[in-house]
Amino acid sequence: MLQSDFVGLTGHVKFNPDKSLIGPAYDIINIIGTGVRQTVSKPRGWVFPNNGKQLRIGVPIRVSYREFVSQVPGTNTSKGFCIDVFTAAVSLLPYAVPYQFIPYGNGHENPSYTELVNLITTGYFDAVVGDIAIVTNRTKVLDFTLPYAASGLVVVVPFKKLSTGAWAFLRPFSAPLWGWFGFWEHRTNDEFRGPPKKQLITILWFSLSTLFFAHKETTVSTLGRLVLILWLFVVLIINSSYTASLTSILTVQKLYSPINGIESLKKGDEPIGYQVGSFAEHYLTEEIGISKSRLRALGSPEEYAMALQRDPEKGGVVAVVDELPYIELFLSSQCKFRIAGQPFTKSGWGFAFPRDSPLAVDLSTAILSLSENGDLQRIHDKWLTKSACSSDNTEIESDRLELKSFWGLYLLFAIACFAALLIYFVQIVRKYRKTVSGESISDVQGSSHSRRLRTLLSLMDEKHDQSRGDSKRRKLDRSLSAYDEENDLRRDSNRRQSHISLERGTNVSN
Ligand code: GLY
Repeated sequence: MLQSDFVGLTGHVKFNPDKSLIGPAYDIINIIGTGVRQTVSKPRGWVFPNNGKQLRIGVPIRVSYREFVSQVPGTNTSKGFCIDVFTAAVSLLPYAVPYQFIPYGNGHENPSYTELVNLITTGYFDAVVGDIAIVTNRTKVLDFTLPYAASGLVVVVPFKKLSTGAWAFLRPFSAPLWGWFGFWEHRTNDEFRGPPKKQLITILWFSLSTLFFAHKETTVSTLGRLVLILWLFVVLIINSSYTASLTSILTVQKLYSPINGIESLKKGDEPIGYQVGSFAEHYLTEEIGISKSRLRALGSPEEYAMALQRDPEKGGVVAVVDELPYIELFLSSQCKFRIAGQPFTKSGWGFAFPRDSPLAVDLSTAILSLSENGDLQRIHDKWLTKSACSSDNTEIESDRLELKSFWGLYLLFAIACFAALLIYFVQIVRKYRKTVSGESISDVQGSSHSRRLRTLLSLMDEKHDQSRGDSKRRKLDRSLSAYDEENDLRRDSNRRQSHISLERGTNVSN
């Protein structure tokens, strides 16, 4: 038997000096002895023909986002999402594929993926397995399996929280709208009489007081009331809108960034970050036309975060352009950044093979099966389950209202109080001076400090004379009520008269 050397149904049969089969595609069941020993794995048919050699499969040595693919320390084997997808797909092939992974990269930074896949065209690798983007340049010289993960380039930017700020209570309405409130009531009300200054004050007071339903002006004419009721309805809507708008300003986190996608990024001249080794660098310069001098290579998610938060003039970047799967992982732990706009390229990750490789076709079928039976999703969830963004409590903070949220309102109130007090004291001092100078010199000479103080206090205590404005108003009220009474009397007498004439008419007709 040891002399056997032939090709049979199970492949080449030849034994080496230690009596083992050379390059066996199958295990042999030992039927000699008392029991049966079986092969450990089910034979699957023919072995993938590679001149009896194992396939040399290049695998990137990633230093960041190692969930996708990373080298097991101290070995030549690799692990990660992409590796699990590959082994699961290979296990579905109807034949065995002997292969070995050959790590590629210096271990300090992610290798250039373009250089890595180009090693297939030179014959150094038989295939490349990893997070390889299927892009036009690569498909021109290589064959890819169907994508096992969706990808595409996105723009990541730091979002500033739009602070609610001290003047948040003014923001629900625009400046012109605030201005209009002062004038909407013009000429709708009989109380809006008098000199222009008084009219202006009354208009402002009436418009604003109606917002709180706190007005006390009365309307006398039917037309005035018609307009007022409509105005009060408008006020109701404004009130509700103001409340809704202010609630949203104060409670919902407002995020803001001047960059809203690749187009605004293209227009500027600020630095942009990209992942070391990624095709993104080539794409941004060659396809989008962004100058190479604007690009900064970033090696890890930590570098992304640092660069995005740093001033662009001090080595920072305004945005990072990278593939969606990496960014989803990045954003799961970084809450201060967001994707601006939509992915501006649509692609996927696949395994790379030489042109016309039958393995690329068979592995594509296997990837489809993995997708359909849910295994692809299970592998994805095993490696890439994203935790909710929880590295800081920005969003929680946004829900809390603090004293500083309203300091603008307090400031206005304090200024108003202070101004009113100041004016009041100036008036009192003026009055006091007038009173004192009105007294005779001998009185003043003879007066004591306590007397002056009493005078001052009595002036402060004195009931404020509502002056001519109020007496005028009283007069107007009196005349208006007299006018109303007169009208009522006239109406009564008219009614009585028409009643009498009606009765008379009825009598006549009777
Ligand atoms: N995923 C990196 C690249 O394919 O270039």
